[in-house]
Amino acid sequence: MSKLIITGRRKLRGEAVVQGAKNSALPIIAASLLTKGENLIFNCPQLSDVEASCDILRYLGCRVERIDRTLLIACDAPDKNDIPDELMRRTRSSIVFLGAILARMGRARLSFPGGCEIGSRPIDIHLSALREMGAVIRERHGYLNCHAPKGLRGRKIPLPFPSVGATEDIMIAACLASGTTTIINAAREPEICDLADYLNKCGAHIYGAGEGTVVIDGVGSLRGAAHTVMPDRIAAATLLCCGAVTGGELLLRGAVPSHLGAVLPLLEKAGCELSVLPDGVGLRAPEALKAPGVVRTMPYPGFPTDAQAPFMALGAVARGTTVFIENIFENRFLHASELCRMGACIRTEGRVAVIEGVERLYGAKVEARDLRGAAALVIAALCAEDETRLGGVCYLERGYESLEQTLSSLGADIRKI
Ligand code: EPZ
Repeated sequence: MSKLIITGRRKLRGEAVVQGAKNSALPIIAASLLTKGENLIFNCPQLSDVEASCDILRYLGCRVERIDRTLLIACDAPDKNDIPDELMRRTRSSIVFLGAILARMGRARLSFPGGCEIGSRPIDIHLSALREMGAVIRERHGYLNCHAPKGLRGRKIPLPFPSVGATEDIMIAACLASGTTTIINAAREPEICDLADYLNKCGAHIYGAGEGTVVIDGVGSLRGAAHTVMPDRIAAATLLCCGAVTGGELLLRGAVPSHLGAVLPLLEKAGCELSVLPDGVGLRAPEALKAPGVVRTMPYPGFPTDAQAPFMALGAVARGTTVFIENIFENRFLHASELCRMGACIRTEGRVAVIEGVERLYGAKVEARDLRGAAALVIAALCAEDETRLGGVCYLERGYESLEQTLSSLGADIRKI
């Protein structure tokens, strides 16, 4: 198992290009199953979660080739409608294939996606929506057996929670359904807009993505298209935190300020000087950070749950008290105990974490247990005294493309062994 060795207290300085968004590439790869003809997906990040989704498409009979950060995908004749357990378990987000396989093949058999480190990750909203559209879904022996005897039909679907994955799953399934589907209380994340942009390039009729109500007029078929994946707003937020805790000065090319509407004000509150440029965001950190105060994670455009862990590392060394209320996932403070091993002063109770900023963190042997928690430990290690040995690097590689190279190019003392 590889480890990252980080020696902290080096200011980060320079420019970095923000990677393509993992949480946009994944649903787009699944949605490409609906199309005939070639797709060219540009700016697709090289991540293990993305490779897992590509392997699912290959298993289903599609042609997927990667040339650097471009995927060439052709799904002219998929010949399977199931996803075996070992493929399902490699990434949580494979549930978004359910709508795609059902829409293209008329039936689907997926193993139940297990929970993961940050929560039980139920899929009840996905299943009730697809049933509403005419799917018959039986859950047996850990498998979902689904078929749509009369095809999928457009329906009005109010969501009890603006679930990102469920919104994506329904949008994808609705593209080839007969009639119009209206999703009410849909997720508004930018990744939803990116998926809709891609699907509309393929010939879909999707309106209102990014707002609370999304309307999809079903069409007969979709053809492959070329699309560039949007920049990853969470990777951008993570790099900004790296700059902030090291008293550094960064320019992130490709960061989209409007995607960071709830994140940038917190960095300013912490004392960072931010500049919004035509093609990115600049940050100049103060010598000492101030605590950002109370932070509630919320559906977009609120503060993103994926940025909670990186910001907890920032709060650990910011003067004052930071409080996180994690409203999205029930178990997303796994990184707190590892940060405490580095000298942080954090107490968690249920969905609340209270962080008293300390003068200094100290390098330690720490273990990541989920993707964003791994990022938090890297951020803490960058400003800690001495050396940190971080295990669980595989979690980092699920969502961050060669983070150690990027940080090293900005002046960090970081290496993988
Ligand atoms: C997506 O997960 C992202 N993953 C997550 O990013 C992100 O944290 C999350 O959205 C929230 O923004 C991808 O896009 C691949 P949800 P998803 O459905 O779709 C509950 C990362 O670190 N829920 O919006 O699974 C659920 O339990 C990952 O990049 C149901 O109850 O998130 C959770 O409490 C982690 N029933 C809440 O909704 C359902 O059927 C939000 O889940 C579905 C969800």
